[in-house]
Amino acid sequence: MDFEKLTGLGIGTWGLDENHKKKKDEIAAIRYGLDHGLNIIDTAEMYGDGKSEKLIGEAIKGYDRNKLFLISKFYPYHATPELERQSLAASLKRMDTDYLDLYLLHWRGSHRLSDTIRGLEALQKEGLIRHWGVSNFDTSDMKELFTVPGGKECFANEDLYNIKERGTEFNLQDWQEKHGVSFIGYSPFNSGKGDTIRITQNLKIVARDHHVTPHQIMLAWTMRNGNVLTIPKSSSIKHMKENIAAQDIKLTDDELRLINSDFPIPTEKTPLAVI
Ligand SMILES: NC(=O)c1ccc[n+]([C@@H]2O[C@H](COP(=O)([O-])OP(=O)(O)OC[C@H]3O[C@@H](n4cnc5c(N)ncnc54)[C@H](OP(=O)(O)O)[C@@H]3O)[C@@H](O)[C@H]2O)c1
Repeated sequence: MDFEKLTGLGIGTWGLDENHKKKKDEIAAIRYGLDHGLNIIDTAEMYGDGKSEKLIGEAIKGYDRNKLFLISKFYPYHATPELERQSLAASLKRMDTDYLDLYLLHWRGSHRLSDTIRGLEALQKEGLIRHWGVSNFDTSDMKELFTVPGGKECFANEDLYNIKERGTEFNLQDWQEKHGVSFIGYSPFNSGKGDTIRITQNLKIVARDHHVTPHQIMLAWTMRNGNVLTIPKSSSIKHMKENIAAQDIKLTDDELRLINSDFPIPTEKTPLAVI
């Protein structure tokens, strides 16, 4: 599966397989997602020290690899040609696959971007990754990346984005759109146990009118313009089902205005929020 641009709904996996008793349910939730039209899975070597990648390897067994879009990330201190190669080999082994669709620098570290890109280009040439990108980059980081040889080939940048953390709307999302870099919004429920966003009266009203939950409204909101890939993590079929259904929710202009009154549109640049 390849995309010109990543949008819509994918599957987040941070924290999966931390509690072994839940593993069966977590795998079932991922498979439910894959069986109901989702095909993008986001993970990282960091998540559970490789456990999340291993769990994905198990979850995707038996599925057509060509129909999946697998994203993983390497630590900033592995961002050199040699260490990227080693990290990737370990991730591929854990996920039991021959290639990644997208390989991201998890956040900026001290290695030169030019070295990081050189390593990624080599992996790409060998067919071990189809695309490369970055994560937790702000507008200034993206602009700098574009000055580095090969930097304009960056396929995606993955940043925190939800109804409460809208800072990237100020000038980053537009910049990425203009420069053909997909925007992946992580933690649509602001992480944690999914209760780190205030469920306001307005959110409740909008949810009630659509006969859905406030979380489904939060998710539909992240997808409202068709230019973001949102990647909620859910470890139950129940949540996965609700998240899939959120793709069909169309918010009206009036509803968006109500939501804006509780969670305002950014009017100035703020430091990039991260989790
Ligand atoms: N690039 C980065 O630096 C970075 C940083 C953070 C996250 N990420 C990626 O983004 C993904 C998502 O972010 P996240 O895991 O931090 O948090 P999140 O998706 O914002 O929130 C996950 C929480 O929401 C709950 N949830 C899921 N669906 C729900 C629903 N329909 N109703 C109510 N609660 C629901 C989950 O519960 P259950 O598990 O019980 O279903 C879990 O407690 C990660 O898994 C990871 O892949 C990337």
